[in-house]
Amino acid sequence: MTPFDFSTAPDRRGSDSIKWRRYAGRDVIPMWVADMDFAAPPPVLDALRARLDHGVFGYADPWPSLADAVIDGIARDHGWRVQPDWLVWLPGVVTGFNIAARTVGQPGDGVFTATPVYPPFLSAPGHSDRRLVSTALVNTGRRWEWDGPATEATVADGVRLFMLCNPHNPVGRVFDRTELTRIAELAERHDLVICSDEIHCGLVLDPAKPHLPIAALDDAVARRTITLMAPSKTWNIPALYCAFAIIPDAGLRARYRRTMAGIVPHVNVLGLTATEAAYRDGGPWRAALLDTLRANAARVVNAIDALPGLATTPVEATYLAWIDCRDFLAARGIANAAAHFEAAGVGLSDGRDFGLPGFVRLNFGCPPERLDAGLQRIRQAVDI
Ligand SMILES: Cc1ncc(COP(=O)(O)O)c(C=O)c1O
Repeated sequence: MTPFDFSTAPDRRGSDSIKWRRYAGRDVIPMWVADMDFAAPPPVLDALRARLDHGVFGYADPWPSLADAVIDGIARDHGWRVQPDWLVWLPGVVTGFNIAARTVGQPGDGVFTATPVYPPFLSAPGHSDRRLVSTALVNTGRRWEWDGPATEATVADGVRLFMLCNPHNPVGRVFDRTELTRIAELAERHDLVICSDEIHCGLVLDPAKPHLPIAALDDAVARRTITLMAPSKTWNIPALYCAFAIIPDAGLRARYRRTMAGIVPHVNVLGLTATEAAYRDGGPWRAALLDTLRANAARVVNAIDALPGLATTPVEATYLAWIDCRDFLAARGIANAAAHFEAAGVGLSDGRDFGLPGFVRLNFGCPPERLDAGLQRIRQAVDI
């Protein structure tokens, strides 16, 4: 029995929530943007309350016990010992990979990413006058995998930066040691910097597939890698905007900081406060959350796989399911899956934004009862 309740969630209708405001006044269950409907962990809320009671909000500098909590948490959960001076605090992971795109190479250089992928990966190269170059991940039916030869050929096209998303949004993979080693070897062969977005690393659902930071493979990989992490997804505090880059190489770190100078603001003190509490005291809440998400993932996979024309793959990590609707769309002559399901009362993310039309992404970070209601609407939308 856990002291945490994931069977209910605060009412977010009429709140500031992007996720819920999109459907204000309509009977649509929002299951799109990647935040969960659960309240933040009690230790995080307690720390925020204590900081509020202090009452003074002058400029803040990240403090030693905060760095210790993060460093100890990464060592405990992912077996990687980070040095304090490798940390660069950031007001978000999207900020972090856009800085990486601007730091590495020159205008006109290629930035690699594998699709489908979280949409800001696709826009980051253009923001920095770089070229987006990509290859598609391949669905074997069992899971999504890398196409090694295609990736190798693609990075040969003037690529300097390899943008990795691991665990992967939206396909839910936790890339294993063999896959990461191949990527590291490719980066070595082509002298690439790796920017590894590991924001979902605390949300591994399959205990047999632990998250391995690519930079933890060995020192040589660490030296060419910018790792991005944050407490925001795992402990559901994304709008507190606190994240960090881990950059072991001093030269790369200096160049990264130089790109930030004068443009990227300091992280706000409430975000820093919440981060310390999450990494230090958020373990029991996270364990209970993962039990709920694991059960929710199974509900989604069972429901979707029972529906004609829809298919999905096991979710190894994240609270996001990536659903292939192409057979259903073709059989019914429907153009847009997200619009079809929205009309049926479920708000999903449109695969086109991730570089793969015909798919939708479903966010199952909500109480099981709400998830079941959403799945029932999907069932009805397919059965019509
Ligand atoms: C892979 C990935 N990176 C980054 C983000 C957002 O990070 P931030 O809000 O810290 O910019 C998300 C949010 O969904 C994500 O899935």
